Amino acid sequence: LLTGLLGGTFLVAGGAACATVDTVGQVDFARPLLIPPLADSGIDAAGRRVFNLHAQRGSRDFGIEGTTRTMGFNGDYLGPTLRARRGERVRVNVVNNLRQETSVHWHGMHLPANCDGGPHQPVRPGATWSPAWTIDQPAATLWYHPHPHGHTREHVNQGLAGLFILDDDESAQRVLPHDYGVDDIPLIVQDKALHKGEIRDHDTGDLLLVNGTYGPYLDVRTDRVRLRLLNASVSRTFAFGLADERPVQLVATDGGLLPEPVTVTRIRLSPGERAELVVPFQAGERVVLRSFPPATSGSFDGGKDRFDVLELRAAARLRHVGTVPKVLADVPRLDPATAAVNRDFRLNGTNINGDKMDLDRIDTVVEKGTTEIWTVRNTDGQRHNFHVHDVQFQVLSVDGGEPPAELGGWKDTVFLPPKSELRIILRFADYADPDMPYMYHCHLLMHEDNGMMGQFVVVEPGQSAGRVGGTGGHQ
Ligand code: C2O
Ligand code: CU
Repeated sequence: LLTGLLGGTFLVAGGAACATVDTVGQVDFARPLLIPPLADSGIDAAGRRVFNLHAQRGSRDFGIEGTTRTMGFNGDYLGPTLRARRGERVRVNVVNNLRQETSVHWHGMHLPANCDGGPHQPVRPGATWSPAWTIDQPAATLWYHPHPHGHTREHVNQGLAGLFILDDDESAQRVLPHDYGVDDIPLIVQDKALHKGEIRDHDTGDLLLVNGTYGPYLDVRTDRVRLRLLNASVSRTFAFGLADERPVQLVATDGGLLPEPVTVTRIRLSPGERAELVVPFQAGERVVLRSFPPATSGSFDGGKDRFDVLELRAAARLRHVGTVPKVLADVPRLDPATAAVNRDFRLNGTNINGDKMDLDRIDTVVEKGTTEIWTVRNTDGQRHNFHVHDVQFQVLSVDGGEPPAELGGWKDTVFLPPKSELRIILRFADYADPDMPYMYHCHLLMHEDNGMMGQFVVVEPGQSAGRVGGTGGHQ
């Protein structure tokens, strides 16, 4: 009898976990969308722009389930938006006011390996870590989040994440809506599971927070708005579009502007990916940003779940902002003929090429100045994605065919549907350090924490990898 009951309970629980989540029409849109504040900064004696980030505990009433214990940077939940220009030197003082070790990784940033903030730069409780580097890449929507060995999911899920926006002088960049929080809107989207005053350590949750706001609305005052979307979820993939499926212009992806705008009705984002959309509005209308699978489920592998994300409420009179330029940016194509090295990465279970992450093992040695082609395969039936630190890459092919126009720009994270194969091209132009590895990994955080991650070092030509110790570089 007991076995029977347990079996029954298990079946019910299993059934619930597989049930389709559908919040369309269920969200009240009763709270104004919170906009992460722009981080204060100062200039130090060396001329560097200096930011301060304090990782801390807090609590927040999201408007559901009462007060919830959280973590944030300089606040209760998420962190301020850091912003810097190409060519600027920056320094960030990361202060760990938590009771456990953490780290802060600059996702999408091209920078020296000892500034990267991965598992080799842990910050002990009470300690401060102050990496400094020069911004040397195009304007883009990057982000930052902890990356402590084996605990990335927990820290990100509790609320430790924020945006790092880069600017440059590219003219299209100045023509696109760029008034932060007015017509240039950051949207950090996360699914959550709240329970008894805690954010549950979950895989997927059935409620959505946008910039830490549950059920948000946004007052729109211009006839075009730029939405900077970041999927900062633990493992959920979204397909964002407007409820009426109006065409919107995709202008940028992870690493910056696309060569030209791509008209889409939806954009798929797996964890860690970003997209910038320019959305047109009519005076007085209300329209909901949703995540929902396309009618022909074609390229979407995020399941059948549907979410209402944000209600956009256009004012009775809208200020005109410029139209999107036909040419956005010069994105030089990396030429496969110049690639000196080919490598294969097979993602399966919790391994890459059969191995689990080992802090003491260098998996890949790359020579500075080389262009490489990496073939990345998802060989199991699960969803994965693939993220590479240090460089932005380009997608050469998806399952042997031309990549879609959405993948025509710089990427640092790319979705890998079950049984798929992607070829990407990467150029490792600088920042050699034989002793300090960068990471590549699946950005579904429980996969990453369970070991689906590898390490690469960039060395001077002819040099070999140094000795890497798991606790080297401790702050
Ligand atoms: Cu967004 Cu290795 O991480
Ligand atoms: Cu994975």
